[in-house]
Amino acid sequence: MAVTTTVGLVGASGHGRWHRRRLAELPRFELVALCDVRPVEDAGGVAVYPTHTAMLAARRPDIVIVVTPPHTHLPIARDVLEAGCDLLLEKPPVLDRAEQAALETVVARTGRACQVGFQALGSDALTRLAAAITAGRLGTVTGVAAAGAWWRPDAYWTRSPWAGRRTVDGGRTLDGAFGNAFAHALMQSLAVASVAADGATEGAASAAGGAGWPGVLELERYRTRAGVEVEDTASLRLTGAGPTLSAAVTLCSAEFIPGDLTVTGTRGTAVLEYPTDKLWLDGAPQPVGPRRGLLENLADHRATGAPLIAPLRRVRPFTELVEALAAAPAPALLDAHHLVPHPDGTGRIIAGVAAAVREAATRQALFSELSVPWAPVGSPR
Ligand SMILES: NC(=O)c1ccc[n+]([C@@H]2O[C@H](COP(=O)([O-])OP(=O)(O)OC[C@H]3O[C@@H](n4cnc5c(N)ncnc54)[C@H](O)[C@@H]3O)[C@@H](O)[C@H]2O)c1
Repeated sequence: MAVTTTVGLVGASGHGRWHRRRLAELPRFELVALCDVRPVEDAGGVAVYPTHTAMLAARRPDIVIVVTPPHTHLPIARDVLEAGCDLLLEKPPVLDRAEQAALETVVARTGRACQVGFQALGSDALTRLAAAITAGRLGTVTGVAAAGAWWRPDAYWTRSPWAGRRTVDGGRTLDGAFGNAFAHALMQSLAVASVAADGATEGAASAAGGAGWPGVLELERYRTRAGVEVEDTASLRLTGAGPTLSAAVTLCSAEFIPGDLTVTGTRGTAVLEYPTDKLWLDGAPQPVGPRRGLLENLADHRATGAPLIAPLRRVRPFTELVEALAAAPAPALLDAHHLVPHPDGTGRIIAGVAAAVREAATRQALFSELSVPWAPVGSPR
């Protein structure tokens, strides 16, 4: 008879609803406890606890999924592991290297598993891309360029108390184009760069923790709303031991670029559209299998010792980037004359920003290195 894995969920609303929908589709799991500091109206008969400590005192689920705001992750994650549960912790796992080290210590001491919610790392397209790089199909990889252009209306920035904030309740938090919306683009890029830098398999790259970092980080961030503290448009370039990693993203575009990673090598080029797991090698679309789910993989790890897809240690380079984001100057506020109304009337976009994103990716340039009027030379870095 198949063994049921019991699950507790901390942070029942927001993205926690997505986890609840997934759990409902997966018969090998049983959701036994929900926790949220706010009332949960639609618990569907599952026990609800107002704090994670109350939940852990009453139940010890096999796995606890933590889907609370970033600044709350460390203490909750620590308590979950200390209680003897395995952990699926939403991204970003923590906010800086000290927190990362503290959590890694708890993972090591308790012997529990910690999987981080970078679900795109379970992509078969990423595995195939890593295999192509390792097999030398692209030659020496010299660049990994991420590009994305989305629209997030004014209402997005008031979706929760930490939305658009650098601090909340006197402590740091993390939102913004790089910090949140395009976090998966950065993590995929770091994963690809790590494989390329190591000339290693995916597993070895994860053990190395990402050889493309530390490096020199150049970062430019912009915002279009005076009341929002974080970036809605940003570019970065990371140069180090491995390929040059760059990213150009915006949440202020009427034109949609889903999220492309262009991997350039001395013998070939690959493009990974990470939100959809589409992969092209030298322009030819590749057959790609389904994603492996992080929760299912964590349960397999418990049962058979199967390697985790996104163990805490693997995402260390992302945490290092997050720390650099927090330390960087506040994003520059764009002058209103660069903005035009979105066609649907839900906010203002940056005129021509998708073209700038494309050009920045092609040249691995920062926005200020292009001839765009809203990012003049000397933009804050
Ligand atoms: N992997 C992904 O694609 C993805 C997508 C969206 C969000 N996320 C991540 O999920 C996390 C939550 O994001 P969100 O957008 O759902 O935030 P949110 O603010 O909309 O929802 C968070 C929920 O947690 C609850 N909560 C807050 N503090 C709590 C605490 N101390 N104990 C228990 N419950 C608490 C809130 O009441 C709320 O219901 C973030 O880390 C975010 O980056 C990941």
